[in-house]
Amino acid sequence: MHIPSLALIVPLFLVTSSYARFVMYADEWHPTRPTNPRDREGIDHIVLAFAPSNATASFQPKVPISTIKEEFPNAKVMIAIGGWGDDQFYKAVASETSITTFANDIETMLQNTGADGVDIDWEYPGGNGIDYKEHPNSEKTGEITAFPKMLAAIRSAIGKNKLLSIAVPGKEIDMIAYSAETGPEIWPSVDYINIMAYDLINRRDTKTGHHTSVSGSEKVVKNYLSIGAPAEKINLGFAYYAKYFTTADYCTASPLGCALVPAEDPVTGKDALTSGAWTFEKAHMEPVDPSNLTVSTDGTCGPETMTTCASGCCSQYGHCGFSDEHCHGACQHAFGTGCTDPDVFGSWQKAMKNGVYDEEEGGEYFFDADEMLFWTWDTLETISRKFEDIVRAYGLGGVMAWSLGEDSYDWSHIKRMAEELGKGGEESCPSGSSSSMSTPTPTPTPTPTPTPGSSHQCECVAEGYYQEDWCYDKSTGEYYCRVYYDWT
Ligand SMILES: *[C@@H]1O[C@H](CO)[C@@H](O)[C@H](O)[C@H]1NC(C)=O
Ligand SMILES: *[C@@H]1O[C@H](CO)[C@@H](O)[C@H](O)[C@H]1NC(C)=O
Repeated sequence: MHIPSLALIVPLFLVTSSYARFVMYADEWHPTRPTNPRDREGIDHIVLAFAPSNATASFQPKVPISTIKEEFPNAKVMIAIGGWGDDQFYKAVASETSITTFANDIETMLQNTGADGVDIDWEYPGGNGIDYKEHPNSEKTGEITAFPKMLAAIRSAIGKNKLLSIAVPGKEIDMIAYSAETGPEIWPSVDYINIMAYDLINRRDTKTGHHTSVSGSEKVVKNYLSIGAPAEKINLGFAYYAKYFTTADYCTASPLGCALVPAEDPVTGKDALTSGAWTFEKAHMEPVDPSNLTVSTDGTCGPETMTTCASGCCSQYGHCGFSDEHCHGACQHAFGTGCTDPDVFGSWQKAMKNGVYDEEEGGEYFFDADEMLFWTWDTLETISRKFEDIVRAYGLGGVMAWSLGEDSYDWSHIKRMAEELGKGGEESCPSGSSSSMSTPTPTPTPTPTPTPGSSHQCECVAEGYYQEDWCYDKSTGEYYCRVYYDWT
């Protein structure tokens, strides 16, 4: 649709909907938060992660909720229970009594902390969790029917005025408790469904591939829609990290679908540390100037302290030592000696420079033949494409990201998502200029075309303030939909 009179004020990014949610996990391992309000604009839900499922009632977040509310005055603050490492949910659903106790404990936690709601991050009801080798899925079939009962009990304990969301698996194989049969028992209890449309290649896979491509994410969303998940409850998940995998073969000729070395122990399921997640934090993103390093005197090392180990390896977490944990698994080559694994940090610098865009799947990747590492991640461009191809195309209720602190290098992924939501970011009006902030952001929408005289028709004015309304441009005789974000 051609709208010449508005072309000049159409922003680079088209608005999804003024009301689409922007849900942000804030995890305890990456505690950095934006200090500039511009970098956190648009985030309307903060989910603090994690409270343990076996000690919920007494949980207190490391950062008080009152602090979070000062920084995010327009956000609901929720607490997530569980996470990948939590293998204790089976206790919560062991009996009707334990379900009731767990639900009441959550209510107690909300009362004690002042949180606005709870997110259940059980990975996963029915199995395939971190303990899947010790406790096979066959031991967990009861969880499939217990899970919806647990959600209903939580809803009844916390009431309608508190939020209840669930974090749900991206991989189809992990959707053990999510089916056409269980879905109708699940959706009515929850406000939001946070789809973890990432880690779609994980350490149980045997071949390289995109971990969070556009087409992969779309398929995940379709899986949930096909079992009746309401689009308006779905938040599409984004990952603020790249993933790397050690390959078994030289993958230069065909980097996608290339064999991986086994990334976990086939007997115990333990992480072989040949793969991992690489967050978008300063320490990971900025190249190191070796001339600025000094020798560590306290056993810590790495880009944060700009110190090297006097002897031994600098572990992924910035500690000097000689054990396998120090020298293997994203050992920091530039800050010590003796790493026995590939130089993940150095490889990522190459990946960022030489990343390849897979137009068809919608994913960025890089194969580093020197280190035998395959990289897969979301760029700002693939983020925008997900809004276009998935969030807007399927009318989803919002988006979610893991996690706030993992984007702390420049907050660029957060800002891009805020832009796409029409809630701020790089292209938003400068803070404090209230006149331009209230300028409506028009969005041309080709379908459906309203008929003159319908209730959606409005007279178009250059600087009108219609919200999600149809406008008629007299000069061209065309209709378009305009949307603007209510900043008040
Ligand atoms: C909760 O479970 C963890 C293991 O995931 C265990 O280490 C901890 O002791 C448990 N806490 C309680 C209160 O049972
Ligand atoms: C290295 O140190 C020099 C001199 O102190 C400084 O100008 C430069 O910014 C430093 N480089 C980095 C990458 O920190």
